[in-house]
Amino acid sequence: MEGAEMKDILHQLEERREEARMGGGQKRIDSQHAKGKLTARERIDLLLDEGSFEEYDMFVTHRCADFGMQENKPRGDGVVTGWGTINGRMVYVFSQDFTVLGGSVSATHAQKICKIMDMAMQNGAPVIGINDSGGARIQEGVDSLAGYGDVFQRNIEASGVVPQISLIMGPCAGGAVYSPAMTDFIFMVKDSSYMFVTGPDVVKTVTNEHVTAEELGGATTHTRKSSVADGAFENDVEALSEIRRLVDFLPLSNREKPPVRPFYDSPDRIEESLDTLVPDNPNMPYDMKELITKIADEGDFYEIQEDFAGNIITGFIRLEGQTVGVVANQPMVLAGVLDIDSARKAARFVRFCDCFEIPILTLVDVPGFLPGTGQEYNGVIKHGAKLLFAYGEATVPKVTVITRKAYGGAYVVMSSKHLRGDISYAWPTSEIAVMGAKGAVEILHRSDLGDPEKTALHTQEYEDRFANPFVAAERGFIDEVIQPRSTRKRVARAFAMLRRKEKKMPWKKHDNIPL
Ligand code: HXC
Repeated sequence: MEGAEMKDILHQLEERREEARMGGGQKRIDSQHAKGKLTARERIDLLLDEGSFEEYDMFVTHRCADFGMQENKPRGDGVVTGWGTINGRMVYVFSQDFTVLGGSVSATHAQKICKIMDMAMQNGAPVIGINDSGGARIQEGVDSLAGYGDVFQRNIEASGVVPQISLIMGPCAGGAVYSPAMTDFIFMVKDSSYMFVTGPDVVKTVTNEHVTAEELGGATTHTRKSSVADGAFENDVEALSEIRRLVDFLPLSNREKPPVRPFYDSPDRIEESLDTLVPDNPNMPYDMKELITKIADEGDFYEIQEDFAGNIITGFIRLEGQTVGVVANQPMVLAGVLDIDSARKAARFVRFCDCFEIPILTLVDVPGFLPGTGQEYNGVIKHGAKLLFAYGEATVPKVTVITRKAYGGAYVVMSSKHLRGDISYAWPTSEIAVMGAKGAVEILHRSDLGDPEKTALHTQEYEDRFANPFVAAERGFIDEVIQPRSTRKRVARAFAMLRRKEKKMPWKKHDNIPL
């Protein structure tokens, strides 16, 4: 080959690449920017370490010949795929390009996504999917639906093998929502993303409800009402940098332990302020998040589902540089009671931690389950059982700290020793009992209720006996009553002791967790 000819070929390659990089052209890129959205490639650049992205299938085009589509074959076919690194650790990415045929999913578009999902499962690295798509490519009909099916099947197979994270950064509608729905985490961008199975027009026709796309399936709806999304961010840039932060907590696959990071916070750190965290009045709330951040390395806490079921808190911290999942009752919201929403939220989080070998710290201050027809009619029995089941099946190291109330069934559910919790600590302020003193006296001494003096006496008697951790400690249900100030140190030591824990459940095809 002549030198000039070679140069020509190299030049052509660069030209082809440049064409692919331009997606749907400058006009559509401008319109994407005008909506406050970044392009598919700009998003990847912000998500990954600089210069680490390796793109595949840049020259793939669709094979549809209907509706004049043979004249319109943009390179890459509406999705940018490949792998790169986040703080040096490998991840696979797909990013739908709304500038190319509205990011709609064709058979080949789906094949590109499947290719990197297969690689992720084989090579052990998370998949991050950036969704910005008008849904099934209308011109392709059933070929597009088949493509979705192939992606769904991979989402299912990858579940529990590699972490899967979905970022919704534009439309995600119809059956297309079910791919993100099967991933581990869904994050949305406020005001520029929405998810729904049927859009506002169909809703209007069928149910006569008038709603906007934002009301029906925007970030606020899904983080506060439906709990479909795990978090919402102000804009694309914040969303992408927060995903980088999350990935730092997660193992690359179920074949690896979570990452260990350097830490600059003494595991022995004493927090005297914790000695007065729990108020004298047992009905006064306090902020459980204060305890979480005071336990965590450098006070760093990554919260999951912050805006949903605030009566339970879920998220990740590090202890001695190692990831720990935290589940904590929050006395500030509904007195920290367990209900359908909080049980579902925590159960899913516990199962995520367990399938990726992330140890679980449980902080308990729970007055029981929320009573009422609203709860019973909607199946609190079944939903509450999810959390009980999730804790009982989790074989990862489980450390529990009871700070105040641990009443009734909720005491057992919240990672007690009875569900194979490894270590249970209690603060001296703990009350471990079937119920609070008032409720107990009302049942045990109903005939004395008219007599305030007798009732006060009975209440005092009950409190003296049960409003403390020592009865449970006498039975070994609590391993140690600890000083609040030394909680970080004690918990860190417990997890260090459990680092090589081995525990297996009996063989089964899979369990039958109440759904
Ligand atoms: C092919 C599509 C498309 C689609 C959008 N486009 N959606 N092309 N198939 N599904 C194209 C448009 O023709 C347009 O092309 C470009 O993308 C941008 O679209 P606009 O409508 O101009 O953008 P915008 O006004 O922002 O509206 C976005 C939108 C709207 C709300 C997403 O495009 C829309 O309603 N699209 C159809 C959505 C839909 O019904 N999809 C099928 C859902 S069912 P040009 O060339 O003008 O730039 C489904 C089933 C999945 O997805 C099943 C899984 C099992």
